[in-house]
Amino acid sequence: MFRFQKQRKGRIEGVAKVTGKAKYSAEYDLPNLAHGVLVGSTIASGKLLSLDTEEAKQVPGVIDVLSYWNKPEVANLDDENKRKEAFAHHTFFHHNTIGYNGQPIALVVAETLEDATYASTLLKVEYAENALNVNFRSESNTFPLENTGKIRGDESSLNNSKYIVEREFRIAMEVHNPMEMHATIAYWKNESTLKLFDKSQGVNNVQDTIANLFDIPEENIHVNSEFVGGGFGSGLKIWFNTVVAAMAAKHLQRPVKVVLTRPQMFTMVGYRPESWQNIKIGLSENHKLMGINHQAKHSQSQSKSFGEGITGISRKVYAFEFVKTERVRVPLHLSVPTWMRGPGDSTGTFAIESALDELCYKADIDPVKLRLNNIAPQDMESGKPWSTHYLNECLERGAKQIDWDNRSTQPKQLKDGDWYTGYGMAVGFWNSSRKGSGASIEMNANGEIIVSTAMTDIGTGTGEAMVNMSHEFLGIPKEKISIKLGNSLHPKAPRQGGSWGLASLSGAVDAVCTALKKELAMYAWQASDKKTIESIVLNDNGFQLHSKPDTSITYSDLFKEHNLDNIYVEEYSRPGDEGKTYAFCSSAAHFYKVKVNALTGKVKMDRMVIVADGGKIVNPQAAANQIIGAGVGGIGMALTEKQDVDLNTGRLVGNDFAGYHVPVNADVPLIEVSFIDKPDYNRNPIGAKGLGEVGLIGSAPAITNAIYNAIGVRFTDLPVTPDKILAGLKNSMS
Ligand code: MOS
Repeated sequence: MFRFQKQRKGRIEGVAKVTGKAKYSAEYDLPNLAHGVLVGSTIASGKLLSLDTEEAKQVPGVIDVLSYWNKPEVANLDDENKRKEAFAHHTFFHHNTIGYNGQPIALVVAETLEDATYASTLLKVEYAENALNVNFRSESNTFPLENTGKIRGDESSLNNSKYIVEREFRIAMEVHNPMEMHATIAYWKNESTLKLFDKSQGVNNVQDTIANLFDIPEENIHVNSEFVGGGFGSGLKIWFNTVVAAMAAKHLQRPVKVVLTRPQMFTMVGYRPESWQNIKIGLSENHKLMGINHQAKHSQSQSKSFGEGITGISRKVYAFEFVKTERVRVPLHLSVPTWMRGPGDSTGTFAIESALDELCYKADIDPVKLRLNNIAPQDMESGKPWSTHYLNECLERGAKQIDWDNRSTQPKQLKDGDWYTGYGMAVGFWNSSRKGSGASIEMNANGEIIVSTAMTDIGTGTGEAMVNMSHEFLGIPKEKISIKLGNSLHPKAPRQGGSWGLASLSGAVDAVCTALKKELAMYAWQASDKKTIESIVLNDNGFQLHSKPDTSITYSDLFKEHNLDNIYVEEYSRPGDEGKTYAFCSSAAHFYKVKVNALTGKVKMDRMVIVADGGKIVNPQAAANQIIGAGVGGIGMALTEKQDVDLNTGRLVGNDFAGYHVPVNADVPLIEVSFIDKPDYNRNPIGAKGLGEVGLIGSAPAITNAIYNAIGVRFTDLPVTPDKILAGLKNSMS
């Protein structure tokens, strides 16, 4: 539980985090806790023939080795359909087929992590190897594209366009690597009652999945994810550590902890799949976007269980006359991909926004004007009007802030020594959604409240937002508000991700605040009519009807009179019919200034201006943090992040932070974030739309567009590392 303190700055849970008091899943200790270490396959394709555990078992402290040969019975794990229902598209030792390098084949359990780790090196495994294919480039040619969605309009609009750009784009595989590694502690209180400390983005989702797999009632599973050290989508599903920890704990009848190693984080919790795109866009003489044909292919595991929605964005942002989108997934001997911040849309947007930039140079039109001219006036798929949509304001403000009109419109005009300077822009767009969510309030006789929800805070500042909302809805001073979250004992909530967290939770907080007012009104005046409830104002010591001091009553009197210890209210709030009338979206405009060194190929982000529309901003600092973090992700996508796969072995190359490069502080300028901050009350009572994804979507193409403006070379293959810059410069000279 976090308690608001008047003197503190920043987030309600901030002090706990920076002083080490905050406990993450792996940090709990339980009596008799055993440690499990997952062992990955060293081949990428084939069959497990045998596993010799004898030597490993002789290591003092080793308790057991679980594998295909002695896997404990788990009710529904052998049932493919049940596994799919549970969204667990993985192997948990239930068959002996190997589909990728690093696939878990055993769990070594010991008294200490060190014993288990050492013993895991002593397993002797025999495999029968099959042919493997991890070559996305060669393999993707063999799979035909399929339409995604209906073809809109007539293809002649595209083909007869005055200006046409057609290009291929590639983005490397990017991996999730939140600071906190995925970890689980599982503990069975009895045959059918389980407690889990689990790194996740949604405790109820963990509860659901495990209930399905182990065939026990959901309410018998208690999941705690109170603190989450970052999540970009990897915690939206459950992975091996969770299932295997629960499996082992049940089998051994003692608590088991399983923490992934950093290298395991590269294969065991999903990633953004490698992609290829071909895009053809047409623009009319009077600068209207006439048509788009967007084709996408992305890598996939053998289980074919994940589809990345790369082409969806082409159907939404702009009012193209003609739209045709196609996609195919290419199964390889790689682990299972999953959603990663701005899933699909950030990939698709790289292609569209790059092609649009090229069209602008071709047609000699300002890139901002081109976007302003062509923003979809309504949701082009459903025809529904946008509830609110302020991309135009984002564009206008961002352009002004970076002094867009005074930039050099032609490449290679600004040079200082070896450094070229360039400006680029792009937009981000995301369907804003809201899901059903619950929250509760407990009030005591001092008028202190605890607001609780099962929703996790993956780093977004949810707790602080809950303080702000409860304060605004009730009027109670902030220092009397405490927050509990990330625990399945609290009212149910959706997973936090996909930029729907606050948009969903705010409805619940509003509803439960109203429920508290209703309860107070009932006790005080036996009244529960809307008018009374709407006019209640709570303060430090008591409450009254708005501007009627004679109705004032203190909490302590009320609690005494009715002999109450506390008042508890709980509400669940879901979206209404607003989705039948309106379409909802968030958006952002990215305006960047880069410097490119002609001698070293280094790209330096000089300025990043991001203006976002996420509806009402509940907590400006945390909201800005979201956009800053996403912008850093954009730098990674554009310039540094690339997970290489050895084509001969299917092994990941450089699967650690030395080999896989994320931007560090020296790579990141002060990111200038601002918000339109206009509420969308159709979305929910506080007016918040989604925020977060739009900071990443559009970020990478704004960078490559700026690089083009700097050096006149268009990069379509991410990441743009210094070697590519140098090669590009060399080609452009010759
Ligand atoms: Mo999200 S896809 O959990 O950033």
